[in-house]
This record gives sequence, C-alpha cells and structure tokens, in this order.
Amino acid sequence: MIAALCGALLILAFEPGTLGNEKFQYEIKEFSVPLDHFSFLSNASFNIRYLANDSYVDKKNPQPPIFFYTGNEGDIEWFAQNSGFVWELAAQQRALVIFAEHRYYGKSLPYGADTFNTSKPEHLAYFTVEQTLEDYAQLITYLRNGKQLPVVAFGGSYGGMLAAWFRMKYPHIVVGALAASAPILQFSGLTPCDIFNKITTAVFENAYNANCTANIGRSWKVFESMAATDAGKKQLSDIFHVCDAIKNADDLNNFMDYLEEVYGNLAMANYPYNSTFLSPLPANPVRQLCFYLKDLHQNDTDLVASMASALAVYTNYTGSVKCLDYKDSNAGASYDGTGWEIQSCNQMVMPMCANNNNTMFRTSNWDFKKVSDDCYKQFHLIPRPYDIVMRYGGRNLEAASNIIFSNGLLDPWSGGGVLQAPNNQINVIILPEGAHHLDLRQSNPLDPPSVTVARQLEAKIIAQWIKDF
Ligand SMILES: *[C@@H]1O[C@H](CO)[C@@H](O)[C@H](O)[C@H]1NC(C)=O
Ligand SMILES: *[C@@H]1O[C@H](CO)[C@@H](O)[C@H](O)[C@H]1NC(C)=O
Ligand SMILES: *[C@@H]1O[C@H](CO)[C@@H](O)[C@H](O)[C@H]1NC(C)=O
Ligand SMILES: *[C@@H]1O[C@H](CO)[C@@H](O)[C@H](O)[C@H]1NC(C)=O
Ligand SMILES: *[C@@H]1O[C@H](CO)[C@@H](O)[C@H](O)[C@H]1NC(C)=O
Ligand SMILES: *[C@@H]1O[C@H](CO)[C@@H](O)[C@H](O)[C@H]1NC(C)=O
Ligand SMILES: *[C@@H]1O[C@H](CO)[C@@H](O)[C@H](O)[C@H]1NC(C)=O
Ligand SMILES: *[C@@H]1O[C@H](CO)[C@@H](O)[C@H](O)[C@H]1NC(C)=O
Repeated sequence: MIAALCGALLILAFEPGTLGNEKFQYEIKEFSVPLDHFSFLSNASFNIRYLANDSYVDKKNPQPPIFFYTGNEGDIEWFAQNSGFVWELAAQQRALVIFAEHRYYGKSLPYGADTFNTSKPEHLAYFTVEQTLEDYAQLITYLRNGKQLPVVAFGGSYGGMLAAWFRMKYPHIVVGALAASAPILQFSGLTPCDIFNKITTAVFENAYNANCTANIGRSWKVFESMAATDAGKKQLSDIFHVCDAIKNADDLNNFMDYLEEVYGNLAMANYPYNSTFLSPLPANPVRQLCFYLKDLHQNDTDLVASMASALAVYTNYTGSVKCLDYKDSNAGASYDGTGWEIQSCNQMVMPMCANNNNTMFRTSNWDFKKVSDDCYKQFHLIPRPYDIVMRYGGRNLEAASNIIFSNGLLDPWSGGGVLQAPNNQINVIILPEGAHHLDLRQSNPLDPPSVTVARQLEAKIIAQWIKDF
C-alpha cells in the first residue's frame, strides 16, 4: 500500500473549479519558470500558477510581509480554500498572501496535456522536490521586486514538508516556516513502517467503542470467504453498490485496498465539524462510521451489511453517489493521486506496513523490491529510498531554525512528524485532539481548545520572526 499524504490516493471531493463554498478570494496568476533549474544548457520554460491577494497589505509599510504557501500535491485552489489560518493571520499581520502551485499539479503542467503521457517517461524528469523549491525561490525573488521583505512559508502535509525544507535550504529567502502535520520523518530507517496504521487503528478504537476495530479487523477474512463463490461476489457487489462488479481476486484486492485508504483518509479528516476536505464529511466522521459498527458481529452477512452503512459515511455522505467507484481511487479529486504516485516512485518513498494482529488492517509487509519494480513498470522510474534523508538530514535537524512543526496526535501522519524540538529555534506544537493539519484550517467554534491555543502560539512566533527581520 502506498499511502499518500493529503489523501491516501483517493478522494471523492469536488472537481477542481467547482470547489464548493469558496470562502477566500484571490487573483490567479502565472509565472514562468525554467523546466530544469539545474542545467545551464537548456532554457526551456513553462508557467506555474499562483494565487495572490494583496488586499490586506498596508500600502504604507515599506516592508510588508509575504505569506507564501508552498503548494503540494493538488490543485492550488483546493489548498487555498482549506488553509483558512493563513488568511486569518494575513489579515492580522497585513501580509501579501500567495499560494503557489506545485509543478506537475493542477494547471502547472510542464508539457500541458501531454505531461503524463506514458509513452514519454522523460516528461517526468523534472518532477522533484528540488525543482519545486527552486520554482518557489524564483517566484519569491520576483515578488520581492528587489526589496528586502519578510517571507513566511506555510504548508500542510507534504506542503508542510516543503515549507520546512524550504526554510532549511533557503534561509535567506524565508524568515521561517509553519510546517503543519509534515511527516518529514516518514522515510526509510527513520520511523517504523506500521506507525500510520497503528495510529489509525487507535483513532478508530477510541472513536465509539472497540467493536469498531474488531469488526473491521475481521472483515477482510469475511470478504475473502464470501468472494470465494460467484454468489458471494455478487452479494458483495450488491451490498456495496459498486460500479464495476467484483469479478476476480484482483477486483477484491482493489476493493480492500480502497477500504484501507478510506480508513486512513477518515482518520486524517476526522475534524470536529463537517468539512469537504477529502470528501464531504460529517463532524467527527470516524465516530459516525464506528457508530454503525458498535455491535460485534459474528454473523458475516450482518457484518458486511453494517460495513456498507459505515463506509457510506465517507463515500456517500451527500447521498448523491450512484455507485462505489472502488477502482478509481481519484474519482473527482482535487488532490492528484497520479502525481503523488509518481513522486512516490522517485523521492517520496514512505514505507508502509501493517500487522493484522495489532491493527485493524490486513497484514502487509514493506517490500521495496516490489515497489521499485512496479514503479519501473508504470513510470520508468527507479525510486531512491534514501534520497530525501540524504538531502534534508533525516533526524539530524540541529542546524535548522525558525520552523514550527505542529502535529495533531489523532493524525496518522503524526507518527512521521517532528515531535521533539532538535534545538531551541525550532518549535514543536502538539495538538492532542487534532487531526491532519487542523490548525491550518479556518477557525471554527467547534475547534478543541488545544487548536485555538496552538494557533495563538503560532501567530506569536510568526509575528516575532517578522519583527526580528
Ligand atoms: C482578498 O480577500 C479579501 C477578503 O476576503 C477580499 O475582500 C478581496 O477582494 C480579496 N482580494 C483579491 C485581490 O482577490
Ligand atoms: C533559448 O535560447 C536561444 C538562444 O538564446 C533562443 O534562440 C531561444 O529562443 C531560447 N528559447 C526559449 C524557449 O527561450
Ligand atoms: C502520447 O504520445 C504519443 C507519441 O507522441 C502520441 O501518439 C499519443 O497520442 C499521446 N497520448 C496521449 C494520450 O496524448
Ligand atoms: C455543515 O454544518 C453547517 C453548520 O452546522 C450546516 O449549515 C451545513 O448544512 C452542514 N453541511 C453539510 C454538508 O452537512
Ligand atoms: C460489542 O458488541 C457486543 C455485541 O453486540 C455488545 O454486547 C458489547 O457491549 C459491545 N461492546 C462495547 C464495548 O460496547
Ligand atoms: C445471519 O443473519 C441473517 C439475517 O440477519 C440470517 O438470515 C442468517 O441466517 C444468519 N446466519 C447465521 C449463520 O446465523
Ligand atoms: C448513496 O445514497 C443514496 C441515497 O440514500 C442511495 O440511493 C445510493 O444507492 C447510495 N450510493 C451508494 C454507492 O451506496
Ligand atoms: C499473530 O499472532 C499469532 C499468535 O501470537 C501468531 O502465531 C501469528 O504468527 C501472528 N501473525 C502475524 C501475521 O504476525
């Protein structure tokens, strides 16, 4: 299983451009960047998109701050609408707001519609973290227009990783970074590969009652035994209203992968109020799901029926989903699963595994050889599992400064987060009741107190960076 960051390879959210209730406004602009920042032989270029709002800026301030969101794996408008704290803080600090789109995502495609053409794997050559950070450095340099301005990087999830790495590599360009739920330690040799699934299991266990994880943990065997007969396959397909009937072992496996991804996504988006981040969801969606699984089911038919009702909390909260598209894990997503799969096949190799004995997930091992072979088959890429550790230091962060690492302990990605400050210029903020980068979202009356406190502290630290500039 390759779990992805902002959503584990699937999201049933909204189409880009129809983001639902857009709250924040901006101008959409483009900026030309070199295709390859690291070659002086080629001058090929393409445009990345960025969003800009200068309405908060104090026109009398000769050095207004810039709040720069380092875009991650998806359409940048999606992140702009889901990072309300950046906007709230910009209004307070009278900052220019910029959300930059990551190359190869959204509309920032170096080869347009032909970017991901599988017959041209060479198109993927410039899809790296380093090229992306360089895009951001050039954009900021352009925006500063020769002036010295305090620029603060913001990001959540993979965007938070980029924000942190940006500050580490370009401290002369950004005064500091807020890295929310940024699992920069979820790499080979740094963190046990089962941590994500263990945390997800704990979240489900504590959401309603422990029958929830017991039911889910047993369900895999039940699905397998049902799918052993044609009648059982048909029954499963009907109960879950799948779009493509489950016909063979591959389909079944696909279906079970899909369920595991949904559970991970639910833990990430387990916000205390309804939201549309990864999918339209009610408040406390894990608790809602576990409500349907509150009784321990020994009867397989009952278990499967309850699982179908439970799953609908994620897949069909609006009641408008006609059938369950378990094969297309990116159906209608603003988040881009293909792009993330490609990154998982070059640098972002984040080992994942699970044991059914101590989690609700199927037992699965981390098999790098298999991952690597699949990557080559699919994209002609050979992943480098230690690349990120070599470039950004792994756990050796003593030399870094002015980074806030915030982590919600209900977030499965917190397992790969920085939970201890390596020095006194790095701030670690723990949100015991927080899901995936909850602190980066717009304030909400239903926010738990630890989130409100975290935002106040973040605001204070960032104000100090700007003041010291
Ligand atoms: C910036 O955001 C404010 C507040 O939502 C809005 O009034 C203004 O029109 C926006 N400015 C731009 C340039 O979009
Ligand atoms: C690249 O540089 C050459 C030589 O200066 C120039 O002729 C060409 O137009 C440039 N191409 C682009 C895409 O800028
Ligand atoms: C991919 O590139 C090939 C070779 O140029 C072209 O024939 C084909 O139409 C492209 N495929 C897509 C989906 O654009
Ligand atoms: C989300 O909650 C708000 C406030 O309680 C409510 O007005 C809105 O209808 C809810 N949206 C959904 C999709 O349930
Ligand atoms: C689990 O389900 C069983 C059977 O329905 C029920 O008796 C038991 O109370 C449940 N456990 C908890 C902790 O609620
Ligand atoms: C399981 O429950 C269904 C209805 O809920 C019932 O028809 C069936 O006989 C039960 N199976 C077993 C083995 O008890
Ligand atoms: C979604 O809910 C609607 C309304 O309850 C129902 O008709 C539809 O079958 C559900 N879709 C799936 C995939 O279960
Ligand atoms: C699960 O636990 C049992 C009993 O301790 C053990 O025999 C079995 O090998 C374990 N399975 C896995 C997949 O670790």
